[in-house]
Amino acid sequence: MTAIELLEKSYLHFNLSKIHTRELFYLEQIPFPLFSLKDDLFHVVLYPHTPVTKELLKGLLEKTELALYIDKDNHIKLKATQQDNLRKISRSLSIGEPVSRGRKQLNLMTLNMMYMYEDPTNDETLNLQYQATKNLSSFLLENQEVLPKLFSEYIKSNHHYIYAQPIVSSLFLIGVLKYSHRFSNKEIETLFITSLFKDIGMSALSEEKYNKKELKGKDKDLLASHPQLSANILAGRIPLGPSYLKIIERHHDKNNESVDEKGGVLFGVETHLIRIMDIIAAMITGRPYCPPCNIFEALELTKNQISDQYPQEFKTIVNYFRSFFKG
Ligand SMILES: [Fe+2]
Repeated sequence: MTAIELLEKSYLHFNLSKIHTRELFYLEQIPFPLFSLKDDLFHVVLYPHTPVTKELLKGLLEKTELALYIDKDNHIKLKATQQDNLRKISRSLSIGEPVSRGRKQLNLMTLNMMYMYEDPTNDETLNLQYQATKNLSSFLLENQEVLPKLFSEYIKSNHHYIYAQPIVSSLFLIGVLKYSHRFSNKEIETLFITSLFKDIGMSALSEEKYNKKELKGKDKDLLASHPQLSANILAGRIPLGPSYLKIIERHHDKNNESVDEKGGVLFGVETHLIRIMDIIAAMITGRPYCPPCNIFEALELTKNQISDQYPQEFKTIVNYFRSFFKG
């Protein structure tokens, strides 16, 4: 290796950061040089102004071993561009064809979820996600019929499950809550927001760790404490009342009714519905170490978690998913 190559290599090592291919979604052109590492040297693999076509993205996503790098300052600009794209689509969700607009909203929210997990104390990213979630809730409440198609389109993007899981479970939740005719739109919106933010505490571990089937030691403890971490991260930063933060704290407990100061149960069935939708979403979308199961297997396996205490609600869930997947 020549001295210049050596200098170049060390400069790039310090100034490049890894990006996800999905950060290139919805760009017309590659905005900055993108690098990959070959034979211990960084090479430009995509030059600025290269059109970002479906074929290009598909090819990049298929090359799972290919890692892309970008200058750190350019990465900040790319993140700002994608957050701006989310702001724009959130404001105009009701204009145009609902499935494609909804899909764009979900993909950009998933990217922003990743930015949020990378920097959970960033208020701007958190507030953007909150506003996008509120707008998505209104859109979905008005367009319930798009949910099955939207779900099937969204999972084709194959995002990493730690960012996609809260979105899929919240899509199921909003459908079931509306279908049950038991909740006002305002209540549904707040529960939808609660569900979508409930796992932000998973940001305590890096994405790679979640590819392992089992975590050990400190990592295992951090994972187990993610509901409490989520509530701590969110407290006072988004407009969710104490009862909803309590739901987040207990969203993996089987006996998870929130209790008020007099010992009265708050949101008993709501917390169960959030938990059950989370389990169903995890089971039918699979994990890097575990293939997905079908909806009927998932329903069978969740039956004993809810049907004794809330038989009517379990029936509602079964009927909802029957119609959801009938097409
Ligand atoms: Fe969770």
